[in-house]
Amino acid sequence: MSWNIESSKLNKSDLLTNESLFFLGNGYLGVRGNFEEGYPEDYKSIRGTYINAFHDKVDIEYGEKLHGFPDTQEKLLNIMDAQSVQIWVDDERFSLFEGELLDYQRNLWMNQGYSERTVHWRSPQGKEVNISFKRLVSFVKREVFVQEITIEPIKDVSRISIYSELESDVSNFVDPDDPRVASGHAKRLSAEDIYEKNGCHVTGAETLETRMSVCCVSKTFSDKENHTYESNIEGTTAQETYIFDGEEKVTFTKRNVYMDSLRYGKNLEEKAIQLQEEVKSYTFNDFLKEQIQYLEDFWATSDILIEGDDDLQQGIRFNMYHLLQSVGKDPKSNIAAKGLSGEGYEGHYFWDTEIYMFPFFLMTNPEIAKNLLLHRYSLLDSARQRAKEIGHTRGALFPWRTITGGESSAFFPAGTAQYHINGDIAYSYIQYYMVSGDEDFFKKEMAEVLFETSRLWLEVGHFHEGQFRIDSVTGPDEYTCIVNNNYYTNVMAKNNLLWAGKVYDHLKSEDPQRLSELMSDLDADEEEIGKWQEAAEKMFLPYNEALKINEQDDTFLQKGKWDLDATPKDKYPLLLNYHPLLLYRYQVCKQADTVLAHFLLEDFSDQETIENSYNYYEAVTTHDSSLSFCVFSIMASKLDQKEKAYDYFSKTSRLDLDNLHGNTKDGLHMANMGGTWMGIVYGFAGLRVKESNVHFSPYLPEQWGSLEFNIRYRGRLINLKLTKGKVVYTLVEGKPVDIFHHGAEVTLESGIPVEKDTKV
Ligand code: BGC
Repeated sequence: MSWNIESSKLNKSDLLTNESLFFLGNGYLGVRGNFEEGYPEDYKSIRGTYINAFHDKVDIEYGEKLHGFPDTQEKLLNIMDAQSVQIWVDDERFSLFEGELLDYQRNLWMNQGYSERTVHWRSPQGKEVNISFKRLVSFVKREVFVQEITIEPIKDVSRISIYSELESDVSNFVDPDDPRVASGHAKRLSAEDIYEKNGCHVTGAETLETRMSVCCVSKTFSDKENHTYESNIEGTTAQETYIFDGEEKVTFTKRNVYMDSLRYGKNLEEKAIQLQEEVKSYTFNDFLKEQIQYLEDFWATSDILIEGDDDLQQGIRFNMYHLLQSVGKDPKSNIAAKGLSGEGYEGHYFWDTEIYMFPFFLMTNPEIAKNLLLHRYSLLDSARQRAKEIGHTRGALFPWRTITGGESSAFFPAGTAQYHINGDIAYSYIQYYMVSGDEDFFKKEMAEVLFETSRLWLEVGHFHEGQFRIDSVTGPDEYTCIVNNNYYTNVMAKNNLLWAGKVYDHLKSEDPQRLSELMSDLDADEEEIGKWQEAAEKMFLPYNEALKINEQDDTFLQKGKWDLDATPKDKYPLLLNYHPLLLYRYQVCKQADTVLAHFLLEDFSDQETIENSYNYYEAVTTHDSSLSFCVFSIMASKLDQKEKAYDYFSKTSRLDLDNLHGNTKDGLHMANMGGTWMGIVYGFAGLRVKESNVHFSPYLPEQWGSLEFNIRYRGRLINLKLTKGKVVYTLVEGKPVDIFHHGAEVTLESGIPVEKDTKV
């Protein structure tokens, strides 16, 4: 049930969106779902192939450039295009937009990891063929993108010609009118001429500034001996021609290998040719077999089963599948805001990773989660440097948006000012430790990151009248910028500082040698650690007595309220229609801010404050950011507002599939995809990871017959199955473990289901 995404209508207006929805990737390589045979002249397509973190640097142009503004910005590059294959039936070129489509079907198979278009086409002159286009980006051999095209003559066909192309000279997509898409610097690759070697077409390219290189080695073949073949190379464009007589079905395969210097160093072309050699006997089906095996393992632990709503079932699987397709699985890469599905946000990594996507990997595929943390750790030196650039004397400031550590945000009020990213990163390290119990990681990477981020809080904040206050920062809500004492930032900083103290105490008793190494490397002393603890204790957390809510910041509640009801529908998202300053003057939120803090750190507030705050901020939030609905859904679950929880959840689970934000064409909303998973696991099932243990407060939405999923916790695999009024916990793998169900301890033993009422 619902293992595929299907499209059986060819609608011109959906094509760009479908390029994102049908993108294929493996965390290293990503290929948009473009049509092999191309499009009509007047049609705009974002034809793209990307390697995670493969980027160039471009200058940022400012009217007025002040101290500490970044000079350059990193930018994910579109690389050589191997997707193109034209098909001719006698003298007519195949196009979905000419002739007649007697049948058309497009599928993305999420359990098998490939996509397919099948077409029964009648040409304008009445000739008929069946064509199937299959493509796959291998999870097992990550450099490989393979296509298989099968053409079956049906009526009056005497010749089939295939023109397979490789184009090395490509550009990025730009849209000067949308701040979420790049506005310039389209051409950043210097492409080399294509040549032939070992029966392959080979090409390389180098970035203009970072001098990174990439190569593509493409090999084509068919299953029929009997054909003519010709190869024609003109500079950076190559075309291979296969001509078959039109009597029999023909299968054509194109195997493309991509390598980049970030992972493979020098002599890329030789290495890629070598890989082609190693897989020379591989057909599409051989890659497919490996793919299916890989995905069987993935789904065995990661799948979520929803009985009673096929659309949501499809939506949640789609989201998990795309998270897997986009997440970097080597220490050179992370997961971009649009994954590898498009060029929106230019391939940058944001806090989206730690707060929205990391939890899915943490609880299902901890080794991928750890890699995300290690990638951030690899950026620590740049973060130290960034702190200095701003004028801080010590500590690390992680960039708001980046690929390899340089701050890539040119708009500091909603960029660099979001210091909370430090607290978010620290939070994800702490969560990882609580879930994995990984002591080595705790002592090494976690200790260092927590110390360096703690230091920075002391640089940004100050003690005033017995309180520790943090001024001039921006919280998650980007419609309220540069404020004092943003509740979210302050509470995340408090958590960060408290945990740095715990790390200190733990190392002091368990591994004094490591502690003294660390203190000496960082030039830290006990007095400094003492200050962190004092700052944590005295952290000012704004609270409004009259409303009994946490104030978003010092002045939020004093502002006038934006009249959301009087704002015409076509003025949303507000950021595309109003100057930021106007928005900053009002109580209007782009996304969850205080409400998010209450989700992440519920123990710093009481239930009444959390509930009042939810109701208050809900009324002033536009959800113009796709990072918002999921948080409101999770918190509505916590507050027993079940209808609302379900309603918000429905808006997240198919946000891209139904193009609810209207910009899926620029890439998928990866944070939201992670958010839907959280909406189920943290929302409906009420998961919270605490220092002591893992807690659940589950309920089943009344629209569903049942809900089932697994989580990994401390080396165990725990299965939850919810039915009406009941939940069954089963320990599937690992030693007995205690968990909490609605606050009461429950011991799980291997294979013995434990049934509980979901009502408190
Ligand atoms: C949101 C940010 C987010 C960014 C990338 C913006 O619209 O406001 O919170 O990090 O998108 O997804």
